[in-house]
Amino acid sequence: MRMQSTNALFRRATLSSSRFSSSSSTLSIVRQSTLTTVTGTRGFATSSLTAQTSATTNATSPLSLDTSAVTRAQFQTTTAQTSTRTMASACSTSSPSSGSHFEKIPNTSIRVLRTVSSVRRFRQPLTLDSRSVALVPTMGALHAGHLRLIRAAARDNHHVVVSIYVNPAQFGVREDLSSYPVTWEADCAALAKLDRELADDGNNLGRISAVFAPSTQEMYPAGFPGQEVDSRGSFVTITPVGEVLEGASRPTFFRGVATVCMKLFNVVQPTRVYFGQKDVQQTVVIKRLVEDFLMPIEEVVVVPTERDSKGDGLALSSRNVYLGERRRKVAGVLYRALKAAEEAYGAGEGEKGREGILGAAQRVMEETLEEQMALEPSRRVKFEVDYLSLADPETMQELEVVDTTKGGILSGAVRFLPVEEPREEEDLGHSGGPLVRLIDNIILPGK
Ligand code: PAJ
Repeated sequence: MRMQSTNALFRRATLSSSRFSSSSSTLSIVRQSTLTTVTGTRGFATSSLTAQTSATTNATSPLSLDTSAVTRAQFQTTTAQTSTRTMASACSTSSPSSGSHFEKIPNTSIRVLRTVSSVRRFRQPLTLDSRSVALVPTMGALHAGHLRLIRAAARDNHHVVVSIYVNPAQFGVREDLSSYPVTWEADCAALAKLDRELADDGNNLGRISAVFAPSTQEMYPAGFPGQEVDSRGSFVTITPVGEVLEGASRPTFFRGVATVCMKLFNVVQPTRVYFGQKDVQQTVVIKRLVEDFLMPIEEVVVVPTERDSKGDGLALSSRNVYLGERRRKVAGVLYRALKAAEEAYGAGEGEKGREGILGAAQRVMEETLEEQMALEPSRRVKFEVDYLSLADPETMQELEVVDTTKGGILSGAVRFLPVEEPREEEDLGHSGGPLVRLIDNIILPGK
C-alpha cells in the first residue's frame, strides 16, 4: 500500500523537467526529492555529479605551530595520494632531546605510530596496567569538531589515540579520493596545541598519547581490494542500516567505514571509541558493528555536533572549505530546515506524523531556493536536496509516525552546485569551488 502511494507521488513529481539541466529544473529537484522522501522513499541520489568534483590541490607547505583548528588560511593541502610522502617528511621527527627513539610530534610527548606492530607495542603495557585507552578515528584535516571528540576522550580515559587515515575503501569509484584534504602539519599543530590545553586542565584523566597514521599497505596487508561495489576482499558489511540514506547515495561507503573501523579497533583495542553525532548514521553502523561482532569495547561514545560560531549553525566539516563565500552564506539552509522540522515535532500534542514534520523542512528548502533563483546568476546559489529523512534511531529505517517514547533522527543531505558566473576576485572556496555535498542531522529525543 505504502509503496503504491509512494510510486504514484513519485510519478507525479518526475513530471517536472530533467534535474540537472536548468535553473527551473533545480527547483523541481527539491520538489521531487521532498515529495518522495516525505512519503517514505528517499530522494533519488546520483553520484554522477559528485564525479564532477574534480578538485585539484596544491602541494603542502609547512605551517606554524600555533594553529588551533584548521581555518581556511591554514588549510594548505596536499592530496590524499601524496599523503604518505608528506606525512613522512613533515612531522615525524624523533625526539633526541628526550633520548627517546620514538617518532613524536615535535615539542610534545605524542608518539607518531605508523605500523600495526608499533601500536601493539604501545598498547601492551597499558593493558597490563589496566589503563583505559580511547580511540578517536579520523581522516585528518582536523577541525574543532574533531577536537571536541578528543577532549571528550581525554576527560574519561588515561590515554587517547587519534587515528589519521584517509581510508580509500569508503570512497566510491566516482568520488575523488585524491582531492580529499590532507593537512598533516596543521593536524600535528592542532594536536600539539590541544594536548597542552588538556595538560593545563585538571579535569582530564588523560591526554593525547599517540597518533596512528598508517599507510594503506599497513591497513590492507593483502593489497587494497578496490573501491568498486563488486570488489572482492575482506569486507565488513552492516545491513540494512548501512544501505539507506548515505548508504544509498554512496553504496560502498559504510562497507568501507565498517571495515576500516574494525581494523582500527583490532589494532588499538580501545576501551572506548569516540564518534561525532554529525555523522549520525555512521554512529548507528558502528554501534551495530561493536554489538554484533561482540567486540570488547566498553562504549561507543557519541559526541554532539560542533557548529560554526558564525551563527547560522552550519555543522563543521572538512568539506566546508570548498564552499567559498557565496555558498557559505546559504549553506546554513539545511540546519535551518532541520530546526523547522524539530519545531514542528515539538509543537502540539498527540501523534507526530512524517508529513507534518518533514513538510516544515521542505518549506524552508523551497523558500530559500526560490529566493536564490530570483537573484542574478552572478549572485545566486543553486542547491539540490539529496534527501530529507525522519528515521528510527536504532535502524535508520524511515518512519511514518514518531513513537515519542523512542524519538527519531531528522537528517538531510544537500548538494551545493559550483557557482555560476563567478565575479572577479570572488572567493570560490578551496580548489575552485567544486560541487559540495553537506549532511546534517538533529536528534528528536524520546521521552
Ligand atoms: P572524519 O570525517 O575525519 O570524522 C572523524 C570523526 O569526527 C567522526 O566521528 C565524525 O563524525 C566526527 N566529526 C566530524 N565533524 C564533526 C563535527 N562538526 N562535530 C562533531 N564531530 C564531528 O568520519 C570519518 O572521518 C571516517 O568515516 C572514519 C570514522 C575516520 C573512518 O574512516
